[in-house]
Amino acid sequence: MKVREKFIIADTQYQQIAVDFAAQMAFGIQGLPSCFKMLPSYLPRACGQERGQYLSLDFGGTNVRAVLVELAGCGRVNIVRSAARPIPVQLTGSAAQAEQLFDFIAELIAEVAQAEQAYALGHTFSFPVRQTDINSGVLVEWAKEFATAGVVGSDINSLLRKALAARGLVSVQPQVLLNDTVATLLAASYTDKNTIIGSICGTGHNTAFFDPTSNMIINLEAGNFDLLPVNEYDLLLDAVSNNPGRQKLEKMTAGRYLGELFRLAVQREDFAQPFALDTQLLAEIICGQDARFDQVEQELAVAIVQRAASLVAASYAGVLSYLNLEPGRHYSIAIDGSLYEKMPLYAAGIRATLDRLMAEQTEHIRIFAESRGSSVGGAVAAALASKSFCEEDI
Ligand code: BGC
Repeated sequence: MKVREKFIIADTQYQQIAVDFAAQMAFGIQGLPSCFKMLPSYLPRACGQERGQYLSLDFGGTNVRAVLVELAGCGRVNIVRSAARPIPVQLTGSAAQAEQLFDFIAELIAEVAQAEQAYALGHTFSFPVRQTDINSGVLVEWAKEFATAGVVGSDINSLLRKALAARGLVSVQPQVLLNDTVATLLAASYTDKNTIIGSICGTGHNTAFFDPTSNMIINLEAGNFDLLPVNEYDLLLDAVSNNPGRQKLEKMTAGRYLGELFRLAVQREDFAQPFALDTQLLAEIICGQDARFDQVEQELAVAIVQRAASLVAASYAGVLSYLNLEPGRHYSIAIDGSLYEKMPLYAAGIRATLDRLMAEQTEHIRIFAESRGSSVGGAVAAALASKSFCEEDI
């Protein structure tokens, strides 16, 4: 069997993945054993009339961003100021301490916040956090190869508050903690009330959905789905990762891993180092822009990306079937993340596979890029926490 063929999955298997995905959601919501954490966000959707200026902190996988956002109501948004920086790799390893990581974040916030002004802050923290309310929650486990010491088991906004206080930024008040998938759903629902799924296809992968029963957005931690047809390269990647046996769907679909999967499968001496081949290069190989790679290797890269997109589509088909939607009504899926925006074949692959898997039932399903998910979503969450909208507007 050619290496490329090992990355090809039949539609019948994608159908089965959708069925299993929905079943795992049903188990998780009932508190039965499930690969999903089903983490409650304590947040509803946006009503579109939230107003005011809020600070948004976006702590993702690759960068940290602090953004001052003005919500103007009627779905209108202005970005007032922002600052962003890549997270230094030495802060993500197990030798680094929580205090160092959160001081780096506080330093960035200081660039956006004015000392004399008070700010409500929405903290988008893109890792699995078990919350007890809108503003408190502990990190369950790291993902995306992070391993900073002293964060797992700690209350995330307490760590942030301490770091802000140490820099004299007491006027910045963290008021909400939310996952980036929740932020994406919130930001999207600010302008499109039909949004029922928020998803990230970037360095990591995850999905949240709006649960009408609890009137709350729920973070699936979908990257941990594991009823999947894996090949020998998936197993190899999992074995050398920081979290073997965990986040199997994420390892087959997310930017942190796709280049590595290709590197393991292609076995070239000039790319002997783990993680030496990133998604940027993978995109160039797919477009035939790197003469070092021949057509067979290009086709392999295409197969890896197409499988990733199709797996994500199958997971959305699973969520849609779990939600048991009203026929004929419009629903939207909002996606944020570099892979969705930039990787050739990825966005088109999601749409095409979802259409195939759901036959003629997809014309009412809008899939769109919500590229300001974490900044706007964090601000909308802070507005919801401070109840800064006119009741009569709803
Ligand atoms: C994390 C999720 C996050 C996703 C996308 C995953 O590794 O576990 O919490 O939503 O990455 O950033």
